[in-house]
Amino acid sequence: MKKIAPYLRIVAIVLIAWVIIEWTDQTDDYAIINQPLVWIWLGIVFVFALAIELCVAALSNILFLALKPDAQERYLQNEKAKKEKVTQWFRSIYLKLVDSTPVDEEEEIILDHNYDGIKELDNNLPPWWVYSFYVTIIFGVIYLVRFHVFNDYDQEEEYLMEVAEAQIEIEEYKKNAKDLIDVNTVMLLTEASDLTAGGAIFAANCVACHKADGGGGIGPNLTDDYWIMGGGIKNVFRTISEGGRDGKGMVAWKQTLKPSEMAQVASYVISLGGSTPAEPKEAEGEIWIDPDSPNVILPEEGTHEAVIDSLQQNVEE
Ligand code: HEC
Repeated sequence: MKKIAPYLRIVAIVLIAWVIIEWTDQTDDYAIINQPLVWIWLGIVFVFALAIELCVAALSNILFLALKPDAQERYLQNEKAKKEKVTQWFRSIYLKLVDSTPVDEEEEIILDHNYDGIKELDNNLPPWWVYSFYVTIIFGVIYLVRFHVFNDYDQEEEYLMEVAEAQIEIEEYKKNAKDLIDVNTVMLLTEASDLTAGGAIFAANCVACHKADGGGGIGPNLTDDYWIMGGGIKNVFRTISEGGRDGKGMVAWKQTLKPSEMAQVASYVISLGGSTPAEPKEAEGEIWIDPDSPNVILPEEGTHEAVIDSLQQNVEE
């Protein structure tokens, strides 16, 4: 194959196949990166396209050889004329867009200043440039009417819209990447499925020391308002992840449990709060109030009575 058209056709077919694959692929990323199988498909398409082109080339070669010498001559001439037509077409478009005066006609457009032998030509503005300029004018008018007459949206609104979109994307990302949770980003899970999973993890790992109902044994009671290591999802997550104080028996679970599992079991532990276990262990630690909770009135001096009062107030509300 001496011509380049067949090669271009093969590349085009493979590219089209690739675009179709990416288009039908549901994920956001490139299928070509995530699914190595795509390479095999593209390879098959390539081999087929190549085979077809080779067949076509061989066939036209045979047909050409079957022609009589004078017919061969005519055929070649025909092909040449076709080629010239195409180049002519491209050339005429190019000349129309540039509209430059040929060098041998430059005499006609020369201006009569002469700066030490440097002369100036009076060429037309190139049409490609003039048309682009018109396009910018049309763009400017539309822009003016849309944003300054009809006040479509301003920069602040645009910013807020983009932030809202990004927020949705972040939520989506977090949903797919549960194990990126750490103590700073963990949130209390309230879905029944998460709490059930948390309960199962608790039953499998924690009941030996905390009892099935969280009432406490070797480990402290997890159902009361008193916490040694601090309450609330973040502190509880941290205790489960990093363990308790040295030598107390609560190990760091981050080696055994995934971050998402620790979030589930931490949420489950918090959901035990306020329940009444069969044999509750006496309270250890201090009452913990969530400093971020809007309902809590933090006492000036951390007196015990004031704390209890504010808790009771919460319950009554
Ligand atoms: C080997 C016994 C043992 C096991 C098993 C155990 N814990 Fe503990 N846990 C303890 C002890 C002891 C403490 C008290 C740590 C301290 O005083 O520093 C504790 C403390 C805690 C605390 C903090 C309580 C507070 O008052 O601050 C939480 C929350 C907790 N454990 C959750 C869990 C979870 C969830 C599991 C299962 C994944 C688990 N524990 C498994 C013994 C255990």
